[in-house]
This record gives sequence, C-alpha cells and structure tokens, in this order.
Amino acid sequence: MKTEFICENCGYVASKWYGRCPQCGEWNCFSERESEVAVSVKTKKSRPNNSATTEKPKSARIKDISFNEKERTGTGIGEFDRVLGGGIVAGSVVLLSGEPGIGKSTLLLQICSQLGNHGKVLYITGEESSAQIKLRCRRLGVDNDNVFILSENNIDSIITEINTIAPEVVIIDSIQTMYDDNYPSSQGSVTQVRQCALRLIGKAKEDGVSMLLVGHVNKEGAIAGPKVLEHMVDAVLYFEGDKQHAYRIVRAEKNRYGSTNEIGVFEMGEEGLTEIEKPSEMLLSQRPKGVPGNCPVCVVEGSRPIIAEVQCLVTPTVYPTPRRMSSGIDYNRTALLLAVLEKRLGMKFSSQDVYVNVAAGMRLIEPACDAACAMAMISTYKNIPIPDDLIVFGEIGLAGECRSVSNTGQRINEAVRLGFKRIALPYHSIKSIKAVEGVNIIPLRGVFDLLKLLDE
Ligand SMILES: Nc1ncnc2c1ncn2[C@@H]1O[C@H](COP(=O)(O)OP(=O)(O)OP(=O)(O)O)[C@@H](O)[C@H]1O
Ligand SMILES: [Mg+2]
Ligand SMILES: [Zn+2]
Repeated sequence: MKTEFICENCGYVASKWYGRCPQCGEWNCFSERESEVAVSVKTKKSRPNNSATTEKPKSARIKDISFNEKERTGTGIGEFDRVLGGGIVAGSVVLLSGEPGIGKSTLLLQICSQLGNHGKVLYITGEESSAQIKLRCRRLGVDNDNVFILSENNIDSIITEINTIAPEVVIIDSIQTMYDDNYPSSQGSVTQVRQCALRLIGKAKEDGVSMLLVGHVNKEGAIAGPKVLEHMVDAVLYFEGDKQHAYRIVRAEKNRYGSTNEIGVFEMGEEGLTEIEKPSEMLLSQRPKGVPGNCPVCVVEGSRPIIAEVQCLVTPTVYPTPRRMSSGIDYNRTALLLAVLEKRLGMKFSSQDVYVNVAAGMRLIEPACDAACAMAMISTYKNIPIPDDLIVFGEIGLAGECRSVSNTGQRINEAVRLGFKRIALPYHSIKSIKAVEGVNIIPLRGVFDLLKLLDE
C-alpha cells in the first residue's frame, strides 16, 4: 500500500514524515494515511472501461436541464438574507465563521426561530448541552415547535437524525467538534473536519437539505482546519466586529449564489442580535463635534451606501522610528497617503506618530475613503477641526490627484439624507451629477483642495 503523510493542522500533504510542518510550522502533527493517488487509481480500475463503447451522452444542453424554482427561503432576518443574496438556497451549504464569542450561535438560534415558521429546523450542537441551549433560547426568546435541538458529536448519529426528522435546514455548531468513527485522527483535525464536511455536503446535495456550518477561526483569523473547507462549501461568511463594541458585521467571503459585496449589520444586546437597516445613523451618532482629525466618508457596501467616520491622530514621536498604527483601513494604504501628503503638501510626518482608526470597528476597503483619510490626517496635523456639515470622498493617486469613484449619485443621496450641506468629491465626477438644493458640491482636483477646505 502506498502511503503519504498529512499535517493534521493545515492539511499539508507530503511523501515523507516531518517533525515540523513546512507549511504551518506546527510540531508533531503528521499522520500517515493511504495515498489519495493510490485510492483514486484503485477506484478507477474497478470501473468498466468505456472508452470503446458508444453510450448515450450524459451531458445536456443548458436549456434542457430541468430544475425546480424552489430556490430561496428567506431567513426572516433581512440583514442575513442580504448577505446570502436573498435567502438560503435549497441544498446549499454555508460556512459561518468568526472569532470565539462573537455571536455565531446567537445569530443561528435566532435564524432557527424564524426558519421554524417555514419548516423543520435541526440545530446540532457539539459544544453545549441541550440544557445550555435551552437557557440561551429563553434569553433570546426563541420558542418554536419546529426547532429541534440535538447535542451530538458523532457524524453517523447526526446523519441518522437528519434522516429521521427530515428537516429543511440543518445547523451544525461547530464543524470542528464533529467526528467520524472510521478515522482514527482526533476531533478538530484536518482529516476529521474534512471528512465530516464531506458527509454533510453529500447529504445536503442528495436530499436538498440546506446546511449552515459554524467554523472556528484560528489564531491568525483564518478558518481553522483545512483551507479545502472553503472550496467545498457554497458560501463562506465571516462574522466580525469588535467585542468591545456592540456592532457586528456579517460579510461574504465567497458566495456561489450572490454577490460578495453586501454586508449585514447587527447590534448585540441582552436579547440577542438586532438588525440595523440604516447603519449610517448609528455610525455617526457618536461623532465628536469640533475636534480635529475626524472625517465622515460615504462608502458603498454592495447595494447600500454607508456613512462611516475616519479618525486620525498625529503626535510628535518620542521613538527613533515614528509609530504608525492603522485599524479599519489597510496599513499600506495609510502609509501611501502619508507619503503623498508629505511629498505634495510638505507636511512632516516623519517626526510624528500617526494613528488611524475607523469608528465603531468598521472596516473600510474602498479606495473612495482615501480622500477622507487624507482629510483627517491634514486636519489633525494642522490642528484645525473639519466642519460638521462637510463630507469627503474620492480616491487619491500617487501624484496627489483625486480620482473619480463609482456610485457617486448614491453617495450624495445618503450624505444629503443625513444632513450634510457640503460634499467634496472628485472633480471628474462633477459633470455627471444633478444639483441638490441647499447642498454645496465642492470639486476636488487633488490634495491641495483638501487643504483649502480647512482654510475656508
Ligand atoms: N446575558 C447576556 N447579555 C448580553 N449579551 C450576552 C449575554 N450572554 C452572552 N452575550 C453575548 O453573546 C456573546 C456570545 O455569543 P455566542 O455564544 O453566540 O458566540 P459564539 O460565536 O457562538 O461563541 P463560541 O465560538 O464560543 O461558540 C457574548 O460574547 C456576549 O457578547
Ligand atoms: Mg457558539
Ligand atoms: Zn501544517
């Protein structure tokens, strides 16, 4: 028998045994198994050799493929449906991942309660006892006769239970706590996680049951266990947020049935998670007035514009190399903006510590937030507050120029809705927009114009 060695931590496969995994650096994590190549050769041999036969073709034209339009079930939680692309697709497998204690089980229990109105839901926990779940359900007000709770780790018993109850939706909390008797490796190891996921995915595709799997993240923030898990499932959602803040965001990393741009916003409280349909108000509500270094920006997340607040603080450094800290905005992006301001506006950041932050634990990835970030930097450097009624967006290039961004109209509408009276945006976008009464649209050619905004 030909064998190979697999790292139980990250899934790295090698032809010889290692004491330390060359991929993830973990010690003593290799175990031996029969080579996958050998297994596939074996199974191939047992198949009939059909190279010479002229069977009917098994492929079909796209128009001839039948499907039933049963499609999506709304979860009753709009923000979650938004991320999924409009609800759970029958027979799909969704992986929900996030840091410990962020609220994964809470969210799924609340979803159970809503889904129970449409059909049977089976919630399987490998981490808590049924009594603990009951306690949480009481706190969250989850009480639906269609929701079944099972505390179980063995995948065979789980499949049996799915067959008995025949639910529409199955929730597995979490995939790392499940195990398959047929494999000797320990719970949570790559082999076990992969095997259990394969069994469940097989079941989902076969019976059309939808599955939501919880996946833990490791120290580095990636989904623990094999990366292959992400390839196997239909959608990967991340549940993120600062535990110090009440706000939680669900983001799609991958979605076979919808866009990955949408985010869902929630607030965590005593009674569980509540949806926040209009996040802008929430994000702006605690904005300090008359303090230098805070600049609002309108970003577009999927189909929805959101107003966030970029904050920057600059202080003279006491270190040989000045400190740079960035949270919520890419570190390299802030370094680039500092370099542009230093070069084009002659600001001396090299003797300053710079801290950049996005309020309420939001994460901004759009280039449109460049201008606001630069504006916040200039404001704190000059120690002049940004006017309360001013909002800024646009991408900043290396020459200090301001470049146009998508969805200008949507951003303006949201800013106007929230009462901003002055909107500074890329010069090149000005032609394409309609005038709004009582609102002053300010063209930005480059970082010079940002500086001028403060002097007015
Ligand atoms: N009594 C309570 N009142 C308010 N909030 C609570 C209460 N109990 C728990 N929480 C919130 O719920 C969070 C835990 O949620 P939950 O158990 O759903 O997280 P999880 O992501 O499933 O965690 P794990 O990875 O440990 O399974 C806590 O961090 C806390 O914010
Ligand atoms: Mg949990
Ligand atoms: Zn490894």
